Amino acid sequence: MRVQELQVNGDRLEVAAPAHWTLLEVLRYRLGLTGSKQGCDKGDCGACTVLLEGAPILACLTLAARCAGQRITTIEGLMPAHLAAGGVGPDPVQAAFDRCGALQCGFCQPGMMLSARALLNAKPNPTRTEIRAALSGNLCRCTGYTQIIQAVELCVAEACGSAPESPAWAPGQNPWKREPDEKAPR
Ligand code: FES
Ligand code: FES
Repeated sequence: MRVQELQVNGDRLEVAAPAHWTLLEVLRYRLGLTGSKQGCDKGDCGACTVLLEGAPILACLTLAARCAGQRITTIEGLMPAHLAAGGVGPDPVQAAFDRCGALQCGFCQPGMMLSARALLNAKPNPTRTEIRAALSGNLCRCTGYTQIIQAVELCVAEACGSAPESPAWAPGQNPWKREPDEKAPR
């Protein structure tokens, strides 16, 4: 057992846990932060994605001890961080996922939303290709990729002050404006 000093969602914490535990294990089984999902537990699915100093990492492959002194953000901290920054309500990524119906069972959502938040923090106006690349490590077993990509595009559009031409959240319209050689994401 080892006492580890972690900075999670703005709180400085001392956590007693076995030295070999991953960050995911500490988050879920010591801190009760079960929003980070334990899917494959071997780096394949992205369900455990959290932010370390603002960058997405796989918590199931990261030793908790390695994160000492660095800012960790889990899905539980996303809305509080938005409010602390002067925002209103949930983080725009969360609101957009809600508005676009970008979830089915919800298991992939924490990781998806944190990957999206990291992308938008680094690049507020990404292309669809860049959005796909940023989310490529997050798997959705419910195959909800269409609405997920649309949700991120909604965030981008709202941040830029212009609505997409064919939004999925406007019923009756074709949600996809495709490039000639581009297929809709699955
Ligand atoms: S649980 Fe970490 S990548 Fe699947
Ligand atoms: S909504 Fe079920 S895994 Fe993505």
